[in-house]
Amino acid sequence: MRTIEWADDHIRIIDQTVLPHELVTLELRTVDELVDAIRRLAVRGAPALGVAGALGVALAARTAQAEGWDAERLRHEIGRIRSARPTAVNLAAGVDGVLPTLAGGPGAALRSALDLLAADVAACRALGERGADFLQAEVNGPLRLHTHCNAGALACVEWGTALGVVRSLHARRLVAGVLVDETRPLLQGARLTTWELREIGVEHQLVSDGAGPALIQRGLVDAVVVGADRIAANGDVANKVGTYALALAAARAGIPFVVAAPESTIDPATAHGDDIEIEMRPEDEVTSWSGVPIAPEGTRALNPAFDVTPAELVRAIVTERRLIQPSRGAVPGTGDGPPGPRTVTAAGGDAR
Ligand code: MRU
Repeated sequence: MRTIEWADDHIRIIDQTVLPHELVTLELRTVDELVDAIRRLAVRGAPALGVAGALGVALAARTAQAEGWDAERLRHEIGRIRSARPTAVNLAAGVDGVLPTLAGGPGAALRSALDLLAADVAACRALGERGADFLQAEVNGPLRLHTHCNAGALACVEWGTALGVVRSLHARRLVAGVLVDETRPLLQGARLTTWELREIGVEHQLVSDGAGPALIQRGLVDAVVVGADRIAANGDVANKVGTYALALAAARAGIPFVVAAPESTIDPATAHGDDIEIEMRPEDEVTSWSGVPIAPEGTRALNPAFDVTPAELVRAIVTERRLIQPSRGAVPGTGDGPPGPRTVTAAGGDAR
């Protein structure tokens, strides 16, 4: 089953708010339903959001034709999809990628969105292999890995980014185990990543959010592998809040901190991590869990959904096209880079 797909005349998603207890799909037939699903994280993860944005344009175009919206209304509705969540560049990029085809009507928009969906599937497979090649060369396996949030099939169309790397390593019998942190407040690690790893038969243990850095310091982890929501031109990486602490611990311990993401997550228009808008989410996601208060009534909370890991802490970014090593001065925003293990440097040369 795919996380997100087009079903005849609407968008179908796996509802990620009820996993792991229930595996159910949601049928999204209106822009309102799509925007609500994105905001509630029923569909989430940067690549899946990109596809949601692209299919959303097709959905809006069909509705415009059926209900006789004028061009301004159509633009407004597409704008609501585009801005439903701000940090993952893929959402806006997915919308923008399909926009030029709108003049060709809903059918053209849908074909373009489905191309993007297919490209995501191919990208995940390719970057997973590239990440596995890198880690196999860097570390003597089998590897003890640590991941954060959910960068698996559920965050994409299928396969996954960070978990795509895990899958490729697992196929090579090179995974000793994966530590998965809870990822408060919405528990994407505890609910989703554990579910996926169980489905694919990878050894894993759930750890509390605060445990990771100390477990790394104690030598229990060989590499950290995570996804990304936006990678700035200089190599700074926005990802689920809590990523930065793992990157600091990995750098101090001298183990690789690897970011697995499609090229579409690299945003050349954002020069530095400081320029990335960090989504602030409702306070009650922190002060309660599943509707049950966990803090005294009236406790205020601060709930940034993402943090930014500086490029100097990132040993490698693996995409479907490139291996980029920001901690060695490589700059992802320079665009083209050679495929394979060669390092793209700021000077455009080979750092190895
Ligand atoms: O708030 P979320 O669940 O959408 O955040 C997701 C993440 O931070 C993922 O690590 C990131 O999008 C990469 S998914 C391949």
